[in-house]
Amino acid sequence: MTAQVELAGVRKAFNEGQPNAFWAVDGIDLSLPSGGITVVAGPSGSGKTTMLTLVGCLARPTEGRVRLDGRDISGLPEPFLAALRRRTFGFVFQRFNLIRGLPVLDNVMLPAYPLGSPRGPLRRRAFELLERLGLAHRAEARVESLSGGEAQRTAIARALINDPPVLIADEPTANLDSALSSAFLEIVAGLREEGRTLLLSSHDPLVREAAVVDRVIELRDGRVIADRTRPAATR
Ligand SMILES: Nc1ncnc2c1ncn2[C@@H]1O[C@H](COP(=O)(O)OP(=O)(O)OP(=O)(O)O)[C@@H](O)[C@H]1O
Ligand SMILES: [Mg+2]
Repeated sequence: MTAQVELAGVRKAFNEGQPNAFWAVDGIDLSLPSGGITVVAGPSGSGKTTMLTLVGCLARPTEGRVRLDGRDISGLPEPFLAALRRRTFGFVFQRFNLIRGLPVLDNVMLPAYPLGSPRGPLRRRAFELLERLGLAHRAEARVESLSGGEAQRTAIARALINDPPVLIADEPTANLDSALSSAFLEIVAGLREEGRTLLLSSHDPLVREAAVVDRVIELRDGRVIADRTRPAATR
């Protein structure tokens, strides 16, 4: 279960060619080796979310290259990119983006539907993920009845349904109190033990300074201004 992502000279513009053109990511070179927990920190607007979407191939760079396991994927046609994305990355969005009106279990199963998996085994896997995250009892509940922590764990289960080597989470503790944030960090530590790569963006000092975090990358104005890997002894 490995996947190595590299960004080389990556820039991302919004509103390119217009008076309000803006480089949200402005020249990032980054190697994200397989395994470990990396936190992307930086002030609001520094490009954290944009960088996460570039790493996870949800967005394409305006300039530069994104490589997955050494292969340049920046120019791949969308159907190929979508297939790679589905097997490689799981996303937990800041607002979780759960589908209202659908039960928790169906929300967890959603990213697996395009693969045409048979429903039975898929349901079983979704249920096992919910069990693992302590949410089995809520499997049939509608998502609008979930608490913030439950919605987050549903979003994590959904991100794991295709068993991706890389899990990306954008501001995962933004709506959680300290106890739930610590619970989230425990979940993340368990995923790291399984050999997954975790990439989180966070403003939260509790996340940035957590003992389980291996590396902190700091962004400002779309550039990396600091990149620290913690010595293993302090973890
Ligand atoms: N779709 C878009 N169209 C235009 N500008 C955008 C778009 N998405 C992001 N931006 C701009 O790019 C910059 C970087 O945004 P981004 O969301 O990556 O920052 P962030 O570090 O995640 O901020 P926050 O901490 O508030 O989530 C911001 O100035 C933002 O306004
Ligand atoms: Mg953001």
